Amino acid sequence: MEFNDLIRSRESIRSYDPSRPVPEDVLNRILEAGRLSLSAANRQPWKFLLISSPGMLGKVRACYGREWFHDAPHVLVVVGLKDQAWTRSFDGYNSVETDAAIAMTHIILAAENEGVGACWIANYDPVMLREAMKDVTGPGEVIFGITPLGYPRPEFRKSGVKKRKPDGEVIERI
Ligand SMILES: Cc1cc2nc3c(=O)[nH]c(=O)nc-3n(C[C@H](O)[C@H](O)[C@H](O)COP(=O)(O)O)c2cc1C
Repeated sequence: MEFNDLIRSRESIRSYDPSRPVPEDVLNRILEAGRLSLSAANRQPWKFLLISSPGMLGKVRACYGREWFHDAPHVLVVVGLKDQAWTRSFDGYNSVETDAAIAMTHIILAAENEGVGACWIANYDPVMLREAMKDVTGPGEVIFGITPLGYPRPEFRKSGVKKRKPDGEVIERI
């Protein structure tokens, strides 16, 4: 998709067709967009955990109660590796959250490009999610964000509306 069209057409999708898993080659391209993402000092302080097995899906779905989330055939968990992230010597600022956010954005835009729905979710129960993921995350690995991945239901139509602050409020030319 042309980049400007992609930016305009992407919406957070909250309707998933549970009967339509995303083919492996499509998932690979979406994950590759995360892997190729930019990061401070190119540290790549992340792991992308793609959950598609019924057992793990069950555990992760329990951490976020919305029904539509439970329909998605895949959930991607972006994990930040704080120990591997760049740290600014002046003040100790650690770039892990910034780097993980950029990678998450790459993934969500790549999903849109493939016609696959995604929705960044932060409002999950973090204690439950940490517990659900404890066997696949190590010390220093922090769950940063999750998104369902799946095709929207056939009857789903995008709103086509971008509720955004006007440019005059957010853009300043100095
Ligand atoms: C950091 C972050 C956390 C978010 N958490 C949630 C969430 O927990 N649940 C949800 O339904 N949407 C969540 N969203 C999606 C936003 O609500 C959505 O991006 C915003 O309303 C703009 O709409 P759009 O993505 O359709 O353009 C989150 C988005 C971001 C960037």
